[in-house]
Amino acid sequence: MKTLRTIAEIRTELAPKRAIGLVPTMGAFHEGHLALIRAARDECETVVVTVFVNPAQFAQGEDFERYPREEACDAALAEEAGVDVLFAPSTDELYPPGYQTWVEVEELGAILEGAQRPGHFRGVATVCCKLFNIVRPQRAYFGQKDAQQIAVVRRMASDLNLDVEVRALPTVRDPDGLALSSRNAYLSPEQREQALTLPRALATRDREQARALLDGLEVDYLEVADFGPRVLAAAVRVGKTRLIDNVVLEGDPA
Ligand code: PAJ
Repeated sequence: MKTLRTIAEIRTELAPKRAIGLVPTMGAFHEGHLALIRAARDECETVVVTVFVNPAQFAQGEDFERYPREEACDAALAEEAGVDVLFAPSTDELYPPGYQTWVEVEELGAILEGAQRPGHFRGVATVCCKLFNIVRPQRAYFGQKDAQQIAVVRRMASDLNLDVEVRALPTVRDPDGLALSSRNAYLSPEQREQALTLPRALATRDREQARALLDGLEVDYLEVADFGPRVLAAAVRVGKTRLIDNVVLEGDPA
């Protein structure tokens, strides 16, 4: 596996490659990330994983600074999973001085997560558009855990005529039901117990029952949304940690 940090290097490396699969991440790998990497390994000739904690998708006061950064460990896991290229650019490489171009998915990017985190999906859509242009993957892999993110990225790719297939893979959960997330590391044992209410509530697949179960927790939203598929999606706060999760209401349970 090669670890590359500049756009020039990765373009040169990928120029002769075909059937590229891209897994965009912010690092701190867990089984959710590894499931995407394994799917890419199964389906593509060349697998590129990006690790970039994208400042553009964090608002002031969010956890950009304390977001876990574990590049050495991620590199070892990626290598073991058969990744060909790990792309880990600096912030300046993607957003050099003078940077001023943004991708806004107006409607899908403004509801639910987008309403709670203004500018979040602008940052996500922009960095994904840039990564798609840099890597030129045939397929890009995303987790159903972030259902709205997939809908936003699909819309962006379709609206901007990017020639990439956006693949969605099921949410990977711990045996107790909690969806894996790099942010779970912030939870104390008692908070983790409280956090389990979220998957239990969503498992009812019924908004009213879920609302009753979540009574007492700080709920940012709990809504049925058509993210193609339709999902019951929620965000809750446990202490300072914000957790999101969803269940698919039709089609593949994820
Ligand atoms: P990150 O949170 O690192 O997630 C990278 C990918 O892993 C995303 O597609 C996410 O949906 C998926 N993922 C996370 N937890 C998962 C789980 N428990 N099961 C299945 N998949 C899971 O999402 C981002 O990074 C960023 O917004 C990014 C797309 C990289 C743009 O910066």
